[in-house]
Amino acid sequence: MKKKVISILLVATMVAAMVTGCGNSPASDSSSNDGASAGGGDLSDKKVGVCIYQFSDNFMTLFREELENYLISQGFSKENITIADGANDQATQTGQIDNFIADNVDVLIINPVNSSSAETITDKVVGAGIPLVYINREPDAAEEKRWEDNGWDVTYVGCDARQSGTFQGEMIVDLGLDTVDLNGDGKIQYIMVEGDPENVDAQYRTEFSVKALTDAGLEVDCLSDQVGNWQQDQAQQIVANALGQFGNDIEVVFCNNDAMALGALQAIESAGRTVGTDIFLVGVDALSEALEDVLAGTMTGTVFNDHFSQSHSAADAAINFVKGGSNAYYIGCDYVKVTQDNAQDILDMVK
Ligand code: GAL
Repeated sequence: MKKKVISILLVATMVAAMVTGCGNSPASDSSSNDGASAGGGDLSDKKVGVCIYQFSDNFMTLFREELENYLISQGFSKENITIADGANDQATQTGQIDNFIADNVDVLIINPVNSSSAETITDKVVGAGIPLVYINREPDAAEEKRWEDNGWDVTYVGCDARQSGTFQGEMIVDLGLDTVDLNGDGKIQYIMVEGDPENVDAQYRTEFSVKALTDAGLEVDCLSDQVGNWQQDQAQQIVANALGQFGNDIEVVFCNNDAMALGALQAIESAGRTVGTDIFLVGVDALSEALEDVLAGTMTGTVFNDHFSQSHSAADAAINFVKGGSNAYYIGCDYVKVTQDNAQDILDMVK
């Protein structure tokens, strides 16, 4: 699309030690590398197959719409771009990949339902001689190493979720212990609402949001840590239950994404609590609705998950492959911390 995104922040310091939410296991490491850039040439007869893990996901909807628009702006014909809804079912998505292979697409862009299925997917796609760009759900380090060791035309495009978790925690730290420690016991009592564990983003955001607090010397007390699968309705239920169980003891609600933070906010308001006064709430993605909440003070903060940069990099990598070029095996991007100070700027960008 026409909108341009300017990366503002530097990548957060990567720390080997892992601190978990309510006791999750650490996730694998990933290395970063240079991005990709594409040159000119005729793409109008080239076919692109795109697999999205689930169309109903808010963030992936922004991503796929931007991806399609950008591919068209780079010269692909709309009728040669096919986007398939995996409906959160790996078997469905695998069938779609088979169909794309049978259709002889020139390149595949895949947001896997299960990142643990990446090895099988890669073997299938590489075996068919089709270049592959993974997005959003990062395969593990061993799988990425295979691409490099074999010199395959496969890459991953995404942001490092450790940075988004760190930013969430830092926004709470920046408020100061006196503000956040509402019950004055010297500790931060929080609840964690996690995304689908199939995406490493959920594990990293859970770990690194809490780690930012403990790194700042704060004591933490995890009251509840549950999986809301990135879904607003599930998060609303989880937070409503937690508020019923722990009441005023909950000082902070961490949500791995904004859809769940919006659900959390519904539960918080129904329980008669007020964000910014007697509870604090952070999400990730910078959905427009969440940005409106940040501006209104009904959400403490969010983190911009740059779907412009990620979709453009994914398309550029696909174009490089189609033209016979190569890409780095990992193409990263930066998150942006969003508070009341810059929420309007980000809103202007995403709207
Ligand atoms: C995350 C995003 C979530 C959800 C998830 C899907 O990066 O923050 O909202 O879209 O990807 O895998």
